[in-house]
Amino acid sequence: MSTYFDDRDGTIWIDGEFKDWRECKLHVITHGLHYGSSVFEGIRMYNGKIFKNREHMERLIFSANALDMNIDYSVDQLMDMAQAVCEKNNLTDAYLRPIIWRGSEAMGVDARAALPHVAIAAWYWGSYFGDAAEKGISLVTVKWRKPPPGCVPFEAKCGGIYVTNSLNKHEAVDKGYNDALVLDWRGQVCESSGANLFALIDGVLKTPIADCFLNGITRQTVIQLCKDLDIAVEECVLIPKDLEKATEVFVTGTAAEVTPVSRINDTVYKVGEVTKKLQEAYTKLTH
Ligand SMILES: Cc1ncc(COP(=O)(O)O)c(C=O)c1O
Repeated sequence: MSTYFDDRDGTIWIDGEFKDWRECKLHVITHGLHYGSSVFEGIRMYNGKIFKNREHMERLIFSANALDMNIDYSVDQLMDMAQAVCEKNNLTDAYLRPIIWRGSEAMGVDARAALPHVAIAAWYWGSYFGDAAEKGISLVTVKWRKPPPGCVPFEAKCGGIYVTNSLNKHEAVDKGYNDALVLDWRGQVCESSGANLFALIDGVLKTPIADCFLNGITRQTVIQLCKDLDIAVEECVLIPKDLEKATEVFVTGTAAEVTPVSRINDTVYKVGEVTKKLQEAYTKLTH
């Protein structure tokens, strides 16, 4: 098998049917390609069970609606198809990528005549950060900031919004770090390029208020785990200076799961007890 992602064995559910992975091609006049009119999800299956399937499919439809796209499938139908895609591909541990995009029926800024299409692909994807997941990843402050809430539909997981996430990731990797520390237009701490952030400061686990970036399903799960485990947790404003006095930092996301951070710019962190406890609890919950 080549390393190109479109050249793999497998089956994708697309526009209501199962098709061979390599047959799932789009026309060059695809609205989503030109104008970023797509929404997607990243979901994981563990031991044959999809984690938070309903929450992800609800967010997918919410994101589509935020871009004026209505689809003919219900949350339950999408959940069933996600399970079916994994079964068709003989996967019990998988990463799933549902996507809705505007197609090639129309061109132009008025997107409404370009119809929404739906697909779900799934493949095996191990640890997002590879070995770094155990010893921790490094983050560096990057150039592109999150805009104010009135500027983009930030609660939607929308393809177009990821342009700056990619640029921030490129900058971080080019500088020799694993990922980006992304700030908002006010200079407040937000997240990394693809995961939310938590920091243990003065014995309290703090996470930025998700008022201009994605309120991750894993973030919400970890906040609940903290409550279950009696770990003090607070959603609050964090500025980069606050992170200099943190004793532990980690990021959370469906792909990243709970990944410790070992360095932000010039500040280094240990992989501490709170991080390990939450990593363990998250693994237990997902499995
Ligand atoms: C930019 C960004 N923030 C946060 C997250 C975490 O979201 P979730 O926990 O829902 O996967 C993701 C992952 O999808 C992301 O891409």
